[in-house]
Order: sequence, then C-alpha cells, then structure tokens
Amino acid sequence: MIPVFDYLEQHAALEDEILAAAKRVFASGRLMLGSELAAFETGFANWLGCDGHGAVGVANGTDALEVCLRALNVGAGDEVITVANTAVPTVSAIRRAGATPVLCDVDPHTALMDLEQVPALLTDRTRAVIPVHLYGNAVNVPRLVAQVEPRGVAVVEDCAQSHGARFEGRMTGTMGDAAAFSFYPTKNLGAYGDGGLCIARDDEIADRMRRIRMYGFDGAPIALLDGVNSRLDEVQAAILSVKLPHLASWVERRRALAQRYLAQLPDGAVPFATDPRAQHAYHLFVVQVDDRDGVRARLLERGVGTGVHYPAAIHRMPAYRDLDASDLPHTEALTERVLSLPLYPELREESVDHVVHALAEAL
Ligand SMILES: Cc1ncc(COP(=O)(O)O)c(C=O)c1O
Repeated sequence: MIPVFDYLEQHAALEDEILAAAKRVFASGRLMLGSELAAFETGFANWLGCDGHGAVGVANGTDALEVCLRALNVGAGDEVITVANTAVPTVSAIRRAGATPVLCDVDPHTALMDLEQVPALLTDRTRAVIPVHLYGNAVNVPRLVAQVEPRGVAVVEDCAQSHGARFEGRMTGTMGDAAAFSFYPTKNLGAYGDGGLCIARDDEIADRMRRIRMYGFDGAPIALLDGVNSRLDEVQAAILSVKLPHLASWVERRRALAQRYLAQLPDGAVPFATDPRAQHAYHLFVVQVDDRDGVRARLLERGVGTGVHYPAAIHRMPAYRDLDASDLPHTEALTERVLSLPLYPELREESVDHVVHALAEAL
C-alpha cells in the first residue's frame, strides 16, 4: 500500500534527535513560552528571510489566521475576502475573529484566487484579503497587494500548505502584511501534534500578536487587548527546530517527485498550472480527473491511497450555507474533479512510477 501521506520513515531518521529534544524540554522546568519557542521563532523567521521579531508561535494554523486578523484590528462589521476551495479553517478563522467571509472564485487553471475578480468584491467594509497558497502553489501576492493596498485593505497570506514556496523569488509569508503557517503533522514542516505561527511585517503588529496569543497580556497578568490562549508549546518548538534544517531539502525532494509525476501523467489526469514566476512547494500533488470517486476506488484496489482537497466548497457546507456566494462556478466544478496523489519527501521514485501506472489503469 502506498499511503497518501506517511511520516514514519522521517521519524525513524530523526528519532534520536527528536527524543533528545523532548527530554531536554521535560527536564528544563519550563514547558511554555521559553527559550525553545524563542529559538524556533527566530529560526523560522531566518529561514523565511525575515526579522525574528515578526514571528509569533501559536497553537495551530487556524489560530494563526485568527491572531493575524485580530492583530490587524479586523473584527465585527468587517469583511474579509478569501476562497471557497480551501480547508475549512481559513473561513472559520475569519468568523472567529468576528468578521464576515466574502468568497472569491478561483482561476480554473491554477485553482488559486482569481485576482481579476477581487476588485469587484471590495466594499467599504473590506478590511483584509486572505489568499491561500493552495497545495503549495504560490499566489501572485505582489499583484494582490497592489490591488488592495490603496484601499487600506490588508493581505494575510494563508501559508498552511506553502512552506518553501516562492513568487518572483520571495518566500510565501513575506509578501503580505501578515501570514499564517500551520505545523500540523502532514504539512511540509510538521510538528508532533498541533502547531502554528504568525508572521507580521510590522513590529507593532507582531507585538499585538504576542499579546493576543496570551490573553492580551504583556508580561503582567493585565489584559491590554482582547486575547485568546494560543501558544506553541516548548516541546513542539524544540521538535520543529530539529526538523527545520531539513525543510529546504524536503521541499526540493517534493519538487523532484512532482516533476516525476508531471513527466509521466497519463491522458485524462490534468495537473494545475503554476505561474512561471512561482516556485511551487508541492505540499500536495493534485490532478483533475473525470469520475474522481471511481478513479479513487480503483486506485485503492491497486494499493494507492489518495485524498480529496477539497470535496465541497465552503459555502456548500451546512455550517456556511448562509454565506452569500451564489456565483463560484470554477470553485464548484473543481470539487468534483480534484484528486491528491501520494506525496511526501520519503516517497520512492518507484512508488511514483507505480502510482502513475495504477492511475493509467484506473482511468
Ligand atoms: C489552507 C489551510 N489553512 C489553514 C489550515 C489550518 O491549520 P491547522 O490545522 O494547523 O489549524 C490548514 C490546515 O489544515 C490549511 O490547509
């Protein structure tokens, strides 16, 4: 069986270092908001090429989005534009911040936010846009910033799937006003449990993020802001620091495996386009097929696990039916056709070849 995702081989390679890091934390007497978190925040910011002060570890990627929005003063009465072919948390975080999600259709060639449609969605209440670097494919954030900045609208990049992706050489997470990363175990950089991180371009916004993640405190237990409880704990931070030095080579490996898929894809399996100025980080390798569920079942019979990202557009889910999003034809069409093939750095070339062969048969 070739699973769609597997971390056990990576764990075996790093097990001694990871256990040593966890033991160090357990014996340190400090389990929250200590030196491990500070070291990881600095390390991750350096990896992105930005100032360490602007990185704020939180409990997960959903919280990271919410904390970004709150830090930017986005809340009740405000509108936030995003897409409907994303993980639910992109949208739930907007609601948790108190704002109203406004859904934008996607470019059918890339499955990314269709920037042509953004200007028509801007209103006097729009305060932020959240582009999602879906599957690790980078959105043209500089263009989006140029579209919305003159209207005083912030850009918060959803980088949950895009550690290591770039646009015009710039890392995703460093092009907008703020960014949210997830370290959920399946991500390009995965913790051993939940984890997340906010990036702020502006030092004052970073300070607000630090307060918001800790009940609104700044040292003394006096709430200066309306905060939450969302901290990246010392154990996860220490483990992430063990893994961080490998991230660049893991992303390169994902790219190489994706190229191997692309070179051999059978007719009937259509990949998404990547802007020539973008460097994809291949969190997921997704193709479009007819009869997706039938193809999936036949792949499973042939020992190939797959995923669907995502089976329903957000506004078609019971919790979000009230969102006004009557006209998202490309988003809706994709939900029937997308199929995620196995991809992780430890996947073998032979396994990619086996998947391609099985896919040809399944089609
Ligand atoms: C695009 C996107 N945004 C946000 C999140 C939320 O991250 P987390 O699961 O760490 O809360 C995820 C991950 O599930 C995601 O894929």
